[in-house]
This record gives sequence, structure tokens and C-alpha cells, in this order.
Amino acid sequence: MNFFQRLRKDIEAVFDRDPAARNALEVICCYPGLHAIWLHRVASLLWRHHLKLPGRLISHINRIFTGIEIHPGAEIGTGVFIDHGSGVVIGETASIGDNALLYQGVVLGGTSKKSGKRHPTLEDNVEVGAGGILLGPITVGEGARVGAGSVVTKSVPSATTAVGVPAQVSREGSQEKPDFNLDHADIPDPLGDVFEYLLERQLDLEETVSQLKEELENGSEKDEEVLDSGLGI
Ligand SMILES: CC(C)(COP(=O)(O)OP(=O)(O)OC[C@H]1O[C@@H](n2cnc3c(N)ncnc32)[C@H](O)[C@@H]1OP(=O)(O)O)[C@@H](O)C(=O)NCCC(=O)NCCS
Repeated sequence: MNFFQRLRKDIEAVFDRDPAARNALEVICCYPGLHAIWLHRVASLLWRHHLKLPGRLISHINRIFTGIEIHPGAEIGTGVFIDHGSGVVIGETASIGDNALLYQGVVLGGTSKKSGKRHPTLEDNVEVGAGGILLGPITVGEGARVGAGSVVTKSVPSATTAVGVPAQVSREGSQEKPDFNLDHADIPDPLGDVFEYLLERQLDLEETVSQLKEELENGSEKDEEVLDSGLGI
């Protein structure tokens, strides 16, 4: 995915998750969560090229403008959306998969003073409600949701919802994963299905009628032959 495709995906992520978003210009100008992700990309690039101080400086400027603190060492996937944003803190060894949704006040924090992996990992399509605090090198599985105001200190299985302090898994497995796919080609078309079924039935019936007609015609020809021979014509 090239630079412009990524930017486009970031903007699409806002439209997918926020019904208040009206047009691309508004999204580009007025969404601090989007600005934070874009500035983080720059900070992260510098960090990975061993320009640690410039990376930290960009991250600091990001915090001043957006109220969102993302360490340049954190890994953030594509299509991630931070809604509202203020008070979000994402630690150095945190990792966020694609299409995650975070609200204001979310903390992906560490509990250990030792270096090394000490922040949470969020897999793809995870949602963390406002004020959700996730601590330590735990993993939140794909499609899982964390309730607003919850404190999570243990890993959360995929496709479950964890709520409360400390968070407990309140709903297991059966829930639907967040589905942001609004592709019109994939939307179910019940009316089209009915038409297709009716068309198939009509074709079946036409075939049956023409078979019956054929049999009738053959039958009446035979009857005429029998009648003719009976009359000795
Ligand atoms: C956790 C969440 C995702 C669950 O949504 P849901 O699947 O629709 O679940 P429900 O609202 O039906 O609630 C299911 C149960 O969890 C409880 N619950 C929901 N959210 C909770 C929370 N944050 N903390 C504690 N309990 C919570 C409900 O009271 C309910 O309990 P019950 O079964 O005993 O009645 C949602 O409640 C949430 O917190 N979303 C975050 C939204 C947000 O932060 N928005 C900010 C916009 S600015």
C-alpha cells in the first residue's frame, strides 16, 4: 500500500466509524484522531531510522495539538481511527492491528519498569470504549470490544466483550465482530433473491407445460391413427 492509499484508507476509516463525518474536507481539517495518526507515521519513521529525538519531538508536538500521546515506537496498523482523542496514551511497545477503533481517554499502558515488551497488543478490528485502560503486555484478540471505563489487566479472547473494573468477559464468542464493510456489492438483496427464485420457477413451469403439450400432441395423433384404422379409412 503506497503513501496515498494509506491516507485514503485513514480518511475512509473516519467515514466508516463516525456517522457525524460529512465530507472529506471536514474530516481532513477537523479530526484530531486523524492528525494524530498522520503525525505518528512521521514520528515512527524517524524513530525507526534511529532519529530518536526528532521522533520524540514530533510525538510531543502531536500531543500539544491533538491531546493524543503516541510514543513513536508504537506500531499502528492501517484504518485505525481514534475518535475525539483527548487523553489517549499509547505506550512505546504497544501494537494496534488494522481497523481498530479507540475513543477518548484510552490508555495502552505498561506496568513494568523494565524495558522490552510491556504494553498491550490489540489485534485487528478491536474496539476500546472511552476511558478504557489496558495495562501490561496483554493481547486483545481480533474483533474483541472493551467497554467504556473498563480496566483490563488480562488478555481478552477474540470476538468477546470485556467490561468493568477489573474487566470481565461479559459476552463470549457468539457476538458479531464489528463490521465496517459498507461495500454495496456485498449488501444482501432479499428482493433480488425473490425475483431470482420466481424466474427459476417460471422456467421450470414453462418446461413442464411444453413437455405436457408435446405428450398431448403425440397422444392425439396416435388417437387419430387408432380412430382412422378403426373406421377403415
Ligand atoms: C461494552 C460495549 C461495547 C457493549 O456494547 P453492547 O454489546 O451493545 O452491550 P450492551 O450495551 O447490551 O451491554 C451488555 C452488558 O454489559 C454491561 N455494560 C455495557 N457497557 C459497560 C461498561 N462500559 N462497563 C460496565 N458494564 C457495561 C451492560 O450494562 C449490560 O449488562 P447486563 O447484561 O447485566 O444488562 C459498550 O457498552 C461500550 O462501552 N461501548 C463504548 C462506546 C464509547 O465509548 N463511546 C464513546 C462515544 S464518545
